[in-house]
Amino acid sequence: MRVADEYERSAEFIDVMIAPHWAVLGPPLEEALRGITDPVVDVGAGGGHGTRVMAKAVEAEIVAVEPSPALRSVLMARVNEAAELRDRVTVLPEGLLDAELPHRLGAVVAMNVLGHFAPADRQRIWTLLAERLVPGGRAVLNLQPPTEPATVPETRSADVRLGRRRYEGWGRAEPAGPDRITWHMTYRTYHDDRLTDEVTASYDWWVLNEQQLTAELAGHDLKPARTGPAELGMYLIRRGDA
Ligand SMILES: C[S@@+](CC[C@H](N)C(=O)[O-])C[C@H]1O[C@@H](n2cnc3c(N)ncnc32)[C@H](O)[C@@H]1O
Repeated sequence: MRVADEYERSAEFIDVMIAPHWAVLGPPLEEALRGITDPVVDVGAGGGHGTRVMAKAVEAEIVAVEPSPALRSVLMARVNEAAELRDRVTVLPEGLLDAELPHRLGAVVAMNVLGHFAPADRQRIWTLLAERLVPGGRAVLNLQPPTEPATVPETRSADVRLGRRRYEGWGRAEPAGPDRITWHMTYRTYHDDRLTDEVTASYDWWVLNEQQLTAELAGHDLKPARTGPAELGMYLIRRGDA
């Protein structure tokens, strides 16, 4: 089953605006995946910045799951242009829970994506990890702020220049329930500093804090441990018996 493309309007900006974040996320992710030889799943791979990090970190097969047709186009182009990706990255167009994944998994990576999954769907992800991770296998994910349903004032999150054009990404959020927020994003394009275009997009995001994550995982005999610089909110998850 294909899911609605929440990124249809913003895809052209997302990949270039998320690139600087990957300069910071890449090294700890690479470190967290060291030693993995079984297949790795990139959950919501986007344009593939993380996929590229995974390919550098491991020699294993990579399954990049990306339901947004717009972002998947970027991903396919990125995979196709690099020999080290083309030979072992399989791109799947379904949502994670509808994708046909390998039965034994070395790692599942869910960066900048967990908020797309409702609590019941998170449970299905934890079940997948408990059932399919090989001994020594792991999941790596991040919890992005806010981890509570709080209001986030309008903040500029990106400022990228390409040729004569400059692209700004702005975001604000408001609570949309006891464990959910709605993000309102605005993408502005300037040509020689003249505003030429403005695109807005909104999406729901399920929030989760460390305590809740730990409690949910415990129900599946999985344990999280912080990894990487604290401000990145990254967790390495292993089976309780590992
Ligand atoms: C903020 S982007 C992050 C992309 C990438 N992980 C990165 O960090 O560069 C979130 C991604 O999750 C994807 N996504 C949303 N729902 C999903 C689902 N049910 N299964 C897999 N991916 C999903 C979106 O299409 C989008 O590419």
